[in-house]
Amino acid sequence: MITCENLMKIYKIDDEMEVMALQGLDLEVEKGEIMGIIGNSGSGKSTLLNMLGGLDRPTAGKLTVDGKDLLRLSEKDLVKYKLETVGFIWQNNARNLIPYLSAVENVELPMLLKGRHKRERAKKLLEMVGLNQQMNSKLDKLSGGEQQRVAIAISLANNPRLLLADEPTGSVDTKTANIILDLFRKLNRELNITIVIVTHDTQLIKKWIEWFRFEMGRHQVNF
Ligand SMILES: Nc1ncnc2c1ncn2[C@@H]1O[C@H](COP(=O)(O)OP(=O)(O)OP(=O)(O)O)[C@@H](O)[C@H]1O
Ligand SMILES: [Mg+2]
Repeated sequence: MITCENLMKIYKIDDEMEVMALQGLDLEVEKGEIMGIIGNSGSGKSTLLNMLGGLDRPTAGKLTVDGKDLLRLSEKDLVKYKLETVGFIWQNNARNLIPYLSAVENVELPMLLKGRHKRERAKKLLEMVGLNQQMNSKLDKLSGGEQQRVAIAISLANNPRLLLADEPTGSVDTKTANIILDLFRKLNRELNITIVIVTHDTQLIKKWIEWFRFEMGRHQVNF
């Protein structure tokens, strides 16, 4: 699904200052895989996701996602890519959500932009993330974890093949982080959607071990 080779991103601050945010990254992500990338603050996690999501262009190297060369894609094709191939869950929740709309209106919005009025689908997606009771609640009446789950439902609105989540458990407690990570796993398994999560939260490692043990257990039963 994703191939990065020697990927570089240099931000030019002014004539004399440059920041090298990615210095030759190699990465392969298979279709249907759930990939967690853990790194310190400032290590280039958001930069990487912005490149993968087509929000910013790499400075050099190779980057293909779902067969598309993101360094060469035209502006028009990049817009199509952002709308149809990727779903994004931003680090800053204010960027994911519109506070004066209800949960269901928030999820409907990306579908309206594509000219598809799909209240039913918005409701289905909210059910999938476990928010059956909160569909008509205004966003500011929801807890942080519930808002995060609305953001996940929004990211799924246009049936993306790739889901990118930037620090999805950054502002929730451990219990809620558990729920959110398990939800990603469920979406990965049920929709066969490729997921990349970047975080500095090492709870993801514990979750990964738990999922792995669960899978091993399932296979033993099957054999
Ligand atoms: N638009 C920008 N202009 C200039 N420098 C930037 C820009 N975006 C990021 N940087 C710099 O690039 C480096 C990587 O930033 P990035 O946001 O990717 O880190 P991060 O790993 O996501 O950190 P955090 O965990 O704090 O979110 C940092 O040194 C940052 O200051
Ligand atoms: Mg970041």
